Amino acid sequence: MKLEDTILDILGKAQKGQGITDRDLCKTASIGVPELNSIRSGRREPAALDRLSRALGLRADQIADMANETWQAPTVALPSGVMMFSTPFADLTVNHYLIWDPATLKAVAVDAGTDADALFAALDRHKLTLTMIVLTHSHGDHVLELDRIREKTKAQSFAPEAEPIAGCKPVKNNQHFKVGDLTLTAHTVPGHSLGGTVYEFRGLESPVAAVGDVIFAGSVGGIRARWKPALESIRAGVLTLPPETILLPGHGPLTTVAHEKARNPFFP
Ligand SMILES: [Fe+2]
Repeated sequence: MKLEDTILDILGKAQKGQGITDRDLCKTASIGVPELNSIRSGRREPAALDRLSRALGLRADQIADMANETWQAPTVALPSGVMMFSTPFADLTVNHYLIWDPATLKAVAVDAGTDADALFAALDRHKLTLTMIVLTHSHGDHVLELDRIREKTKAQSFAPEAEPIAGCKPVKNNQHFKVGDLTLTAHTVPGHSLGGTVYEFRGLESPVAAVGDVIFAGSVGGIRARWKPALESIRAGVLTLPPETILLPGHGPLTTVAHEKARNPFFP
């Protein structure tokens, strides 16, 4: 699966997130407007990219690896009890997940995606009982199939306290749930959205955390809050999880805490 964001997406998110004008960016990076435009038209001029990355507070070494196409998401083997679904949304895709306790066959759906047919088929195939639907945030692409999943499974649904959704119970920071023998802990990580919530699961062969649009392999969901506190909340809420934790993002490929700590350009 391709990375969710290109270099231009990343530079754009960092510039917009910090409210930096083109003029100020060129000044800080000591480059001219024509050089900026040339980068934007797709040229991979290493010196200009390096200066732009530094001016935006991004890791220039990782941006250079992306330009050289040597930045890759890690190869991740999902433990048994975790399934990823990638569903279409306009010309993009959005991921949603099914996580279950292999002993009791009790399952949780994380987000609802745009087409739940594959999720229904997986519930049947593995003879699972869906007990909960938990939402990472309320953006449309993540909740489109919520009603259909609720209707068909009668599972209780939960949404972040700060992003209420009709019919969903509120989830608070640090709230714990049991799913069979698994434990699920909610961590509120605002920034991309007001109540963005990471769901950490323990009890499978390896720990997994569904992160919605909080962080992607090699990027972050667009920040719509104050820049530094938002990045700090991601650092505290995601990058402090055990390094072997597999991250299940709302877009793009799977990754791990260790990989993003080492290589995500937003976290120097
Ligand atoms: Fe989102």
